[in-house]
Amino acid sequence: MKDLFLVTGGARLNGAVKVSGAKNSVLKLMAAALLAEGTTTLHNCPEILDVPLMRDVLVGLGCEVEIDGQTVHITTPAELTSDADFDAVRQFRASVCVLGPLTARCGRAKVALPGGDAIGSRPLDMHQSGLEKMGATTMIEHGCVVAQADSLKGAHISLGFPSVGATENILTAAVLAEGVTTLDNAAREPEIVDLCELLIQMGAKIEGAGSNTITITGVDKLHPAEHSVVGDRIVAGTWAYAAAMTQGDITVGGIAPKNLHLPLEKLKYAGAEVETYEQGFRVRMTKRAKAVDYQTLPFPGFPTDLQPMSIGLAAVAEGTSVITENVFESRFRFVDEMQRLGADASVDGHHVVLRGREGLSSTDVWSSDIRAGAGLVLAALCADGTTRVHDVFHIDRGYPNFVEDLRKLGADIERIQE
Ligand code: UD1
Repeated sequence: MKDLFLVTGGARLNGAVKVSGAKNSVLKLMAAALLAEGTTTLHNCPEILDVPLMRDVLVGLGCEVEIDGQTVHITTPAELTSDADFDAVRQFRASVCVLGPLTARCGRAKVALPGGDAIGSRPLDMHQSGLEKMGATTMIEHGCVVAQADSLKGAHISLGFPSVGATENILTAAVLAEGVTTLDNAAREPEIVDLCELLIQMGAKIEGAGSNTITITGVDKLHPAEHSVVGDRIVAGTWAYAAAMTQGDITVGGIAPKNLHLPLEKLKYAGAEVETYEQGFRVRMTKRAKAVDYQTLPFPGFPTDLQPMSIGLAAVAEGTSVITENVFESRFRFVDEMQRLGADASVDGHHVVLRGREGLSSTDVWSSDIRAGAGLVLAALCADGTTRVHDVFHIDRGYPNFVEDLRKLGADIERIQE
C-alpha cells in the first residue's frame, strides 16, 4: 500500500528547522569507507531509506555496517568482494559510487547499470573513460559496468562536463593509484569537498577540492577515519523556497549558507529578506514574490535539484519568469503536474515560461522524483483547498521527517495510505 499526502494550502510557514547531512554526500562517504580496512564512522547521516540500501550494498561486498540513528559505522575487511549484488545496486542510482573504490581496492568492479530515470538518461561514459585513462579496461556486460585493472596509474583527465558522479569515482580510484592524477573540469559541489575531506582524513593526498582542477597523489594505503556529513543544501534550499512561496518566515540550521549562495541571492531578487549565520540562515517574505529568471548549472550555479522549487515560486510570483534546465534533459516532466495545480506554464525545449498567478488550485498530483515531489508539496501549500500528492515514496528518499517538519512550521499536511 502506497502513502499519499493531503496538503491543504493557505498557511504561512513560520519557525525553525534543522537539516541533517546531505543525501548526495552520505552515500559517497559510505562507499569511500571501502578504501580502508577497519572501521570508518560517519556522523550527521540523514535517516532516509538510501542509507540502509547502501548498507545492503556494502554488506554484500563483505563489510559490516551498523546504523545507530544518525551515526553509521562501516567495518571494511582486508579482502572485499568485487561484484556488487545486482538487486541491491539496482534499487538506487547512487550505488554506482562503489565503482571507483572497488576498482582501486580489488583491481576489479562489477556494478549494475543504474539506467535512466524520471529526470533523464544518466550515462556513465565519463566514469568509464576516467578509469580507462588510469589504465583500467571497462565494458558494459549483462546490464552491469565492469572495470578491471592490474594496477591503476595516475593520469591527466579532463571531463567534458563537470559530472558529480564521474568526479567522485575518479577521485576514489585515484587516491590509491600509482603517481599523480590531475582532474580538470572537476565538479565543485560541496559534496565533492566533503568527500575529499574524508579521503584526506583517511590519509589521501588531494589538492584543489572545490576548484576546477583537483590533483591527487596516490598513496599505498588509507586508514579508517571519523567524519561528520556536510549539511543538506537541497533540503535547506527547499525550506528557503517554502518560506518565500508561503510568505512565511523560516530559520534553517545545520547548513553553511555559502553552499546555497545563489539560491538565496535569487530569493533576495524576488523580494525576500535573507539573513545568514555561520551555520544557518533566515528567509522572511512579507509580500508576493517578484518574478525571477533561473538557469540550472553545476555548482556554484543554481542547482538542478532546486529547479522544481524555483518553478513553484515562479508559479505564484508577480510577473513572468523563464527557467532554463541545463543539467538533466527530462526534468520538466513535473511541469505537467504543476499545470494541473493551475500554474500558467509553457515548456519550449529546455526552457519553461511561467506567468505567475496569485494562487494555485488543489487537485491530485503525482511525484515523479524526490525533488519534483517536494516541489509539488510546496506548490500545494499555495493552492486553495486540499491537494492529494501521490507517490510520496520518492519524497521520503530525500527528506527525513518532511511531514513532521512541515507541521511544526504550521503547514496543514497529513500522510495517509492510498
Ligand atoms: C548528482 C546528484 C543529483 C544532482 C546531480 C547534479 C547524487 C546521488 N545525485 O547526480 O541529485 O542532480 O549530481 O548536481 O549525488 N553525464 C554524462 N556522462 C557521465 C556522467 C554524467 O553524460 O558519465 C551527464 C548526465 O546525464 C547529466 C549530467 O552529466 O546530464 C550531470 O550528471 P552528474 O553531475 O554526473 O549527476 P549525478 O552524479 O548522476
